[in-house]
Amino acid sequence: MHIKSAEFVMSNSDVAKCPKDRMPEYAFIGRSNVGKSSLINMLMLRKNLAKTSGRPGKTQLINHFLINKNWYLVDLPGYGYARVSKSSKKTFQKFITSYFELREQMILAFVLVDCRHEPQPIDLEFMQWMGENGIPFNIIFTKADKLKPKALERNIEVYSNKMLETWEAMPKYFVTSASNSEGRDEVLNYIEEISKNLTGL
Ligand code: GTP
Ligand code: MG
Repeated sequence: MHIKSAEFVMSNSDVAKCPKDRMPEYAFIGRSNVGKSSLINMLMLRKNLAKTSGRPGKTQLINHFLINKNWYLVDLPGYGYARVSKSSKKTFQKFITSYFELREQMILAFVLVDCRHEPQPIDLEFMQWMGENGIPFNIIFTKADKLKPKALERNIEVYSNKMLETWEAMPKYFVTSASNSEGRDEVLNYIEEISKNLTGL
């Protein structure tokens, strides 16, 4: 997919206020600091479209970006941010889950996990929740530049085996790096392919 335009549209904490038109949208979700905003900038070839930070919890709202004037990319807050108070943490959870439950034009979510870590309960629980609620998702292993190929391969295998304890099959997954653009074509071409096959939105 060729990126002709990428514009920030709005930030919300309330799914009811998200864009009302019915363009297909693709959401990026994962633990805080996993590299969601960096990945979005890498995909869009822009340095600062989505705000990134070395400190967890930078993205705290539902952010809509309009891409090529025909689809939305959505940057969501991290779901595992420990340094916020319990009550605001709960609010994050609620508006993230409401977003997925209510947003009919959400075609596919990409659940980001850091390729360096072994499977984390919070990610597994989130994917379990997605599965139980019939919300389609793929996995993206981020920060691939931080591992040697063999270690990366091994970690993905460990992850797949863990998923297979509860899932019938390993969900489709991508491997990306915001530092060297690995995985960019794969993710964008996949979004393009799915969008082409959509009817009646
Ligand atoms: P929140 O908005 O806080 O939930 O975080 P986020 O998931 O949007 O993460 P963000 O993109 O802000 O990145 C967090 C940190 O990881 C930053 O210091 C990034 O520079 C770094 N980072 C993100 N992606 C990569 C990557 O692919 N490779 C490397 N080496 N560092 C990365
Ligand atoms: Mg972010």
